Amino acid sequence: MYHKPVLRDEAVHNLVTDPNGIYVDGTLGGGGHAALILKKMGPDGRLIGIDQDQDALNFAEKRLAGDPRVTLVKGNFGYLDVLLSRDVHGSIHGILLDLGVSSHQIDEPARGFSFQKDGPLDMRMGDLQTLTASAIINEYSYEALRDLFYLYGEERESARIARSIIAARPMETTGELRKAVMEVVPERFTNKSLARIFQALRIEVNSELSMLKRVLEKGVDMLADRGRMVVITYHSLEDRLCKNFFRYGNFEGKPVKDFYGNDIRPMESLFKRVITPSEEETAENPRARSAKLRAAYRINDTASGHGHKKNQDGGA
Ligand SMILES: C[S@@+](CC[C@H](N)C(=O)[O-])C[C@H]1O[C@@H](n2cnc3c(N)ncnc32)[C@H](O)[C@@H]1O
Repeated sequence: MYHKPVLRDEAVHNLVTDPNGIYVDGTLGGGGHAALILKKMGPDGRLIGIDQDQDALNFAEKRLAGDPRVTLVKGNFGYLDVLLSRDVHGSIHGILLDLGVSSHQIDEPARGFSFQKDGPLDMRMGDLQTLTASAIINEYSYEALRDLFYLYGEERESARIARSIIAARPMETTGELRKAVMEVVPERFTNKSLARIFQALRIEVNSELSMLKRVLEKGVDMLADRGRMVVITYHSLEDRLCKNFFRYGNFEGKPVKDFYGNDIRPMESLFKRVITPSEEETAENPRARSAKLRAAYRINDTASGHGHKKNQDGGA
């Protein structure tokens, strides 16, 4: 199987409000979520599927083949505003983001995402970007590596691991990286540390956090009034950005008030708590275990007096 969709029913249930609306799946992958969105859609609905990975697009194209309601686009969802034609700006009913990598990407050793399999230090989600894990591992300074592992991997042993990597340079494979990490981390912690180091590298290679921030900000402007965003995250750094943006309209989590004390924010969360997978789902699909789903809708600024600043200032 290419990829088993996580929280599929919950995501699609919260996404599709108008069967004949326009929907964007910004992380098409194997098309698992997309297939269910199409099922819920009527004959006049439209689905735009985006992925930066040509493998994913090839697979999804076969799966969704011939459905006239589907348009596939290769690109980074961070540039949503540029990828989507102007006629849909401001009319999208729902945007789905199921972040991170697919099982297909992890399981393919040549992509370099897995610390369990030997492969090149690549970790690019697609061929649109040039930075690879190899450039980071072999060229970043000690301080840059240490801070990267600490910030993006939340790894406490980041300094020792960075030193070990520098001593083992040059490095070409995930196996060599694994060895350098294992040399300085006690055996019982190695899998957790490896997961954190690989996560940090993947985030850096693919500019994951800056692209997420960009898609959240740009995505709001693409939505119709009350249009929804449904985001599935897999680690706390992504989830925090999403939570803060939905609650406060910024990534720092600072409430912004207007003159009358009303919150100024672009979106309203659909529910207070996050949705997480059931025990049955995680038992069946261990990759779902860290998933958190958040959903919000664009606030009608003119009716409520709330909403994002740009519109209150009379902008587009
Ligand atoms: C977790 S998988 C999505 C799986 C999909 N929901 C399914 O049901 O098969 C994430 C997919 O999003 C893509 N992706 C991640 N970040 C992206 C970005 N910034 N722009 C475009 N595609 C991205 C990855 O290449 C991968 O194929």
